[in-house]
Amino acid sequence: MLAVVFAASVLAISPASVTAAIVSSTPAQTFLAIGGSGAWWPNHAFNFPEAVRQNISTLLFSQSGLGLSSYRFNVGGGGVGVATPAHAPQTFYVSPGVYNFSADPQGMYFLQAAAAHGVPSFTAFVNSAPPGLTSNGASCGGSFVSGTGEAFGEYLADVVAHLRSLNINVDFVSPMNEPDDAFGTPGTCTQEGMQVAADQRAEVINGVFNALENRGLSTSVGILADEAWSGSLATSELPTWLPSVEDKVAAIAHHIYDFPSDASYASFVDSVKSVAPGKATWMSDICCSLGTGTGTGRGYTQGFDPTIDNALMFSGIMFQSLVLANEPVYDFWTLVSASIGCSPLNDATCFTPNSVGWNDGLIYLDPDYATNNNFNLYIAKHFWTFKHFGNFIKPGSVRMPLEGPDVRQWMMAVSTPSTYNVILMNPNTTDSTLTLSFPDTVCPVSAFRTSGTEDFATVAKANKVPAGAFLLPLKSMSLTTYTFDRAAC
Ligand SMILES: *[C@@H]1O[C@H](CO)[C@@H](O)[C@H](O)[C@H]1NC(C)=O
Ligand SMILES: *[C@@H]1O[C@H](CO)[C@@H](O)[C@H](O)[C@H]1NC(C)=O
Ligand SMILES: *[C@@H]1O[C@H](CO)[C@@H](O)[C@H](O)[C@H]1NC(C)=O
Repeated sequence: MLAVVFAASVLAISPASVTAAIVSSTPAQTFLAIGGSGAWWPNHAFNFPEAVRQNISTLLFSQSGLGLSSYRFNVGGGGVGVATPAHAPQTFYVSPGVYNFSADPQGMYFLQAAAAHGVPSFTAFVNSAPPGLTSNGASCGGSFVSGTGEAFGEYLADVVAHLRSLNINVDFVSPMNEPDDAFGTPGTCTQEGMQVAADQRAEVINGVFNALENRGLSTSVGILADEAWSGSLATSELPTWLPSVEDKVAAIAHHIYDFPSDASYASFVDSVKSVAPGKATWMSDICCSLGTGTGTGRGYTQGFDPTIDNALMFSGIMFQSLVLANEPVYDFWTLVSASIGCSPLNDATCFTPNSVGWNDGLIYLDPDYATNNNFNLYIAKHFWTFKHFGNFIKPGSVRMPLEGPDVRQWMMAVSTPSTYNVILMNPNTTDSTLTLSFPDTVCPVSAFRTSGTEDFATVAKANKVPAGAFLLPLKSMSLTTYTFDRAAC
């Protein structure tokens, strides 16, 4: 009834496009983090001048940039057998109990920069164990060796303890990545990878848990698993390994490289609940799709589109994880990428869609920087849309569902004790206005918008209508955040 009154009161302003919603006072999930991964790009960015490295760190980790609240550090496996040099991180592992903690200065530089900028939560994640611990003596193409869970656990717990001793708050460890895949044949692999059969995963988790416990870390460092490439594997695989180690796993981290429909995503979440009631699912790794904000064209593929069209596609899948699936964590994949697919110094049209780059970054680098010394940063529209989530969804904030017949998945209210941030996408080609009412007294304070022509631009704050609700204009093909104080003006 309330919504009908509000809608009627603004009909005169914009007849065809006014929709209404109410912010519920019943909370949904509490957010833990919005972040991304430090895989691979540090091997490029570490070669850049110090001022640019610092700029990259500020752009990713400070509130003036994305304001990320989690960072996934790739614990390198030594890159043995990996043919793509930048995808071959050094390893700390020398032999059992012996480490070279001067290794991987590239990864460590940006890890420490993230900590210095105040990123509160870190996951140490593994693509492959070092060659000394895999079936084929390489960092790809092999598998986990049954019976080595304790040795693998000792190694990872020692690495985590070392990083924590540097005041880097590694509070999660993820011992396997897309474990159904060995990632090719040594010599031609394009990345590290280690197969871990579903019936080996409990051994891995027990090994890591025991080693953490021996170091007094099992209550401060949670184990994430199993980083399956798609939720569709959950039904067949989770019952194999999860029940025996359920208490030792902090959350089910998963990827969505099948770009699921809403129904498939919901069914994945249900599969997890049916095996481990109460265990949260976290979206921990995604990139690399074309497509648009309305959801058309989603799917894992090569191709580069730095425009608002594809940036809204990625916003749409974030809303899918955060609103449809109620997930508390969302991590993008590589954050920074050289897969721009063109030569920005020689091609004036370079930063436009092409078929040979990849949508795997928010910031792009010239792939030829080593020979042409072009150390410019190229900011995709995705950076600015991601900034809405990174800046306004903070650890401890709570999603308050929106209610009413006009509510869509790509509308979200996030509350703290003192504010509401309302993040709204309009993926359509027509402008519209949302009339929003709140369960408590609020005062509009600011608004930021990203569209084809705006990069997180300051726009007019919400306007109050006489009936007590607020008008939130939603420009076509845009993402807007309206902020309200939870107090009278
Ligand atoms: C440790 O790693 C660093 C960086 O790769 C390397 O320069 C150094 O030689 C390594 N030290 C040992 C003892 O292997
Ligand atoms: C950082 O890089 C961005 C994007 O290239 C640029 O606009 C900005 O001026 C740089 N900031 C500094 C301090 O270099
Ligand atoms: C965009 O179009 C969809 C589909 O017609 C509709 O459900 C939605 O309300 C429209 N407006 C916004 C702001 O999403």
